This record gives sequence, C-alpha cells and structure tokens, in this order.
Amino acid sequence: MALPESFLQELLSKNDIESVASSYVSFKRRGRNLVGLCPFHGEKTASFNLYPETSSFYCFGCGAGGDVITFIKRIENLDYLDAVRFLADRSGMKMPEQSRENDQTSRLRMRILEANREAARLYHGALYRPEGKVALDYYHSRGYTDATIRHFGLGFAPPGWDYLLKGLRAKGFKEEELVAAFLAARGRNGGHYDVFRNRVIIPIIDIRGNVVGFGGRVLDDTKPKYINTESTLAFSKSRNLFALNFAKNEGRELNLCEGYMDVIAMHQAGFTNTVAALGTSFPEEQMQLIARYADRINLIFDADGAGQKATRRAIDNLRRTGLDVRVVTIPDGKDPDEFIQKNGAAAFKLLLDRAANAVEHRLLEIGKTHNILTSEGKLAYYNEAAQILAQLDSPVERDLYAGRLSELLSVSKDAILREVESNRKKKQRQEVRYQLPNLMRKEQRELQQVNPEAVTYTRAASAEEGLLGTLILHPDYIRQVRQVLSPEQVVTEFNRRLYSHLLDRDRQGLLVELAFLAANYDQDGMAYISRMVQEAKEHTVTPEEILRLAAVIREEHALRHLNDPAAVTDDDIQSMLDALRARKQDK
Ligand code: CTP
Ligand code: MN
Repeated sequence: MALPESFLQELLSKNDIESVASSYVSFKRRGRNLVGLCPFHGEKTASFNLYPETSSFYCFGCGAGGDVITFIKRIENLDYLDAVRFLADRSGMKMPEQSRENDQTSRLRMRILEANREAARLYHGALYRPEGKVALDYYHSRGYTDATIRHFGLGFAPPGWDYLLKGLRAKGFKEEELVAAFLAARGRNGGHYDVFRNRVIIPIIDIRGNVVGFGGRVLDDTKPKYINTESTLAFSKSRNLFALNFAKNEGRELNLCEGYMDVIAMHQAGFTNTVAALGTSFPEEQMQLIARYADRINLIFDADGAGQKATRRAIDNLRRTGLDVRVVTIPDGKDPDEFIQKNGAAAFKLLLDRAANAVEHRLLEIGKTHNILTSEGKLAYYNEAAQILAQLDSPVERDLYAGRLSELLSVSKDAILREVESNRKKKQRQEVRYQLPNLMRKEQRELQQVNPEAVTYTRAASAEEGLLGTLILHPDYIRQVRQVLSPEQVVTEFNRRLYSHLLDRDRQGLLVELAFLAANYDQDGMAYISRMVQEAKEHTVTPEEILRLAAVIREEHALRHLNDPAAVTDDDIQSMLDALRARKQDK
C-alpha cells in the first residue's frame, strides 16, 4: 500500500508539524523548539516537545513520539491511511488512486460498520413485530416516547439464537465478519449464535454517525444487566461516549451521566447536551474527548456509594484537562432518569444551575465525615480541606475558598493559606519523585516491546540507537557508514531492520526523514525511533564519533558470534582486532 513518494512529499510540505499540532496543543517557544501540555496523557507541567527542525514530536512524560502522521494517527485515532487522508483533506489534496481495497484491516472495519448499521435496523424493526411488543412496552413504561425511540434508534433483540444471524446472512454478511463485529459468537460445536438475545438494544453511534457498537439490557432482573460490545476494529470503549453524536453540537457544556437510560431520559427532557461514559473507569482518553467538545462538564452520577466513587474518579481524571468541572447532586439517592420522571425537567434544571464545582463538592463530602463542633473534628476537617485547596492551581480560587473556610472554622485566612501553600510544596516534590520512576518504567516497557533484544545487548543497542538517530538527522553520512557497517552486523533486530530501511531509501534516492518511516512502524516503533533522534540531537556530530559507533556495533556483533566459532568470518576477526586497537588508542 505504498503511497507515491511525490504525493507524500507534497503532503508533508503542506502540513508542517507545527501548524498541524498547534490546533491541538498550545505551545510556548523554547529555543528552536516548542513545548506544551501533552495531548496524549494528562499533565500539568509541559513535557510535550515539538521539534520543527526534524518535523517530530516527543513527550518526556509518556514516551509518545513520532512524525506528523503519527501525531494525527494518535490524536484523531486513525490508522495510517486514514491519517494520511486526514492531512490530505486538511491541505486540499486528493488521495492518489489506489484505494484501501488491498488493506484488509480497513476493509474488515468497513464491513463491521455495515453489519452494525444493518443490525441496528433489524433490532429496531423487531420492536414492531409481535414478539417485540414486550420491548416496546418496556420502553413506554420507562416513559420513552415513540419519537425518542426513533431518535436513538432503540431496538430489541428477540429471544432465540439466530434472529440477527439469519437477517444478516441474508444480507450477505459472513459469520466471521459478525464475530469480528461482536454481533455473533462461535459455539463449542463450531456453530454460531447471536450475542444479544432477549434484550432491549441501544445503538452506540460515533461522532461521524457510524453505528460502532451496542448496549443490550435485560427486560427484568436477570444478570448480567447489560451486555455491551467489547473492543472491535470499529469500537473502543475508552474512545467513545454514548450520545456524543448528538451532544457535540449543543454548545460547550456537557452533562456526563452514568448510564444509557439516564442519557435517553435527559435528552427527552430537553437536556440534549448529555453523554454517558461507557463504563465506570473514566479513562483519561475519554476525558480528553470530552475536553475537545466542552469547556464545562457537569457530573451527574447516582448518589449511592458507587456513584460517589465514580464521581471522585472522574474528577481526578478530569482535573488535568483544565475543564470547569461541576458536580450535580440528586436528592434522595435517585438517578437523573427517576428524578426527571418524578419531578420534571424544570426541577432538574434547578439542580444543574446549583451544581457545585469540584472543590465545593469535595469540601461538602469531607464535611459529612467530620463533626466540626468538636475540636478534633474541626482539626481533621481543616487538615483535609487544606489538602483539597492545595490542588487548586489558581491563586484567586485558593484565596476564595480559604476565605470561606476561615469563616466556617473561625481560623484566620492567612493561616489557612500558609497551610495550603506548604501542602502545595509537598505535593510538587512528590510529583517530581513520582514522575521519574514512572517515566523510566515506561521506557523500559517500551524498549522491551519494540526492541526486546536491546535489554540483553545493551552496549550494542545504545550504539545502534546513537548511530541510527544521527543518520536520520544527518542522512548525508549514510553513504560513509554503509562502507563500514553492513546491516547483518547490526545486533538487535529492530535496529537491523531500521538500518536496512535507511540504506534502501538512501540507495533509491528517497528522503530519509521520520515522516517517511511512519508507514512501516507502529506507534511504539515510531516513539522509539523519534527518541533516538532526539537523543542524537543532544550530541555534536563528528565523522569520528559516527565511525566509533559503527565500530562498537561491529565489535559487539563479532563478540556475539565468538560463542559460535563456525559463524566467525575473517571480516569479523579483522573488525574485532580493529576495534580492540581503536579502544587502546582511546585510552
Ligand atoms: N453497566 C454495564 N454492565 C452492567 C451494569 C451497568 O455495562 N452489568 C453500565 C451501563 O452502561 C449502564 C451504566 O453502567 O448504562 C449504569 O448502570 P445502571 O445505573 O445500573 O444502569 P441504567 O442504564 O441506569 O439502567 P436502569 O436505569 O434500568 O437501572
Ligand atoms: Mn438508571
């Protein structure tokens, strides 16, 4: 699926990394580079670096790195071809004729989306067949109108094993495609059966209008209450939000609820800016998705223990997005669905308007656990509150809440602010301490996955990385290095492949630049390569240094083969001797 070189060159010249990344990250200039908050993981101190010179990025916090195409792949959640297409669209270029037909993965993804769309039709259709009456009654009993049922495309999977299979086979879908779509499963006897049976069905639609998955709820108290589409080529739970397809056009404020049913009830009541997380973990990816569409988010979770835990987790994972986070507390432990049914939309609007911000909410929460009428209770509350205020980055807000606390506890505001300040210092020290080992662990993991041999052959690998990074920065040295180092001599496999690749491109007169490698390496591979490049930039390049690195690699290669005398060639022995001599001269 190689794209024409000339096309890629034009694409890259029209999409320089700085202008592309600037629409996602706000950068500050630092010397020749730009730094900003990493869009791929939550952080407060900028460790995302953009290097216009090498058209690359690298995050020292999470290890993400690569060229402009890798950047788009990650941030828009696209595969390589779609990322190229995205950039082509952005710069008004037409994709060259050679479609994705030969790209099996994209084809299967499209089949899954087609199957999902047909499935949604079949499930919706089932509502209006005799066996679907129970489901239609169920929706009505929850107060959903026919318009709501149509708007969300709600449906029903009848009991039995093959309602959907039959319907989709008739439309030409293969069983393997339906298994890949999580619509059918394979039984022990080799036959297939429907995944969703005797459940009301809620389609999950992404922001482009594709049906990407389904939730299926039982009509009674059977367990499990829900079956949900698990990851497929077309669906990842952590990168989608239920009803974002509608809510994304409703302004910069979103309501986040716990469940499908809440969202549907909220939309019907006029709160069309409501979405649900698809699960209770609120991964950062999902929170960043929210941040793309909103400036303010209202958390509307059940008042029960699980709901409160979820609220806390969501607040934690949202803090770093910089969103204005509010918490809506529903009286009497109800969920929004029940509350609206009972009290109406206007009453719910009042709750929304009164939503506490995250700090107020936390202060209220800890207020419930301490009795501030006793002096121990007051002290404990004071200590916890000072820690909560320490999490506020805005001095104005710290001052505001310190003022309120001071009134509540009759402690001087200055004393409170001093306590908060000392907590902040402590926290900052801890963050630095926490980040360092974390970063190292991540790098270790990354290395092990991308180039597992680097862990065993550390000396070789570090010379290889230095050399390859330098060659990508200064391809004019490739010709020289080619004379003294053959690909077979490169010890670790990943680097051997990369080196051959660089030699090939150079031989064919093609550009050797990070962006041209993106088609051949996955995200972690690109991160590994761009880290080499960044590290190589720290060193001044001299022909001597380059030759020294090549010699180290040859030496390590020869040493590896010493254990296997039959494999030692005269060249190996010669280069060992050379290397040893060179080493002596160094000293
Ligand atoms: N959920 C799930 N699997 C379960 C239970 C819950 O995936 N076994 C998810 C669903 O996305 C569900 C959300 O968690 O929508 C909230 O759960 P719950 O409040 O129990 O479900 P509701 O959708 O509110 O359903 P109902 O109002 O009918 O209880
Ligand atoms: Mn509910």
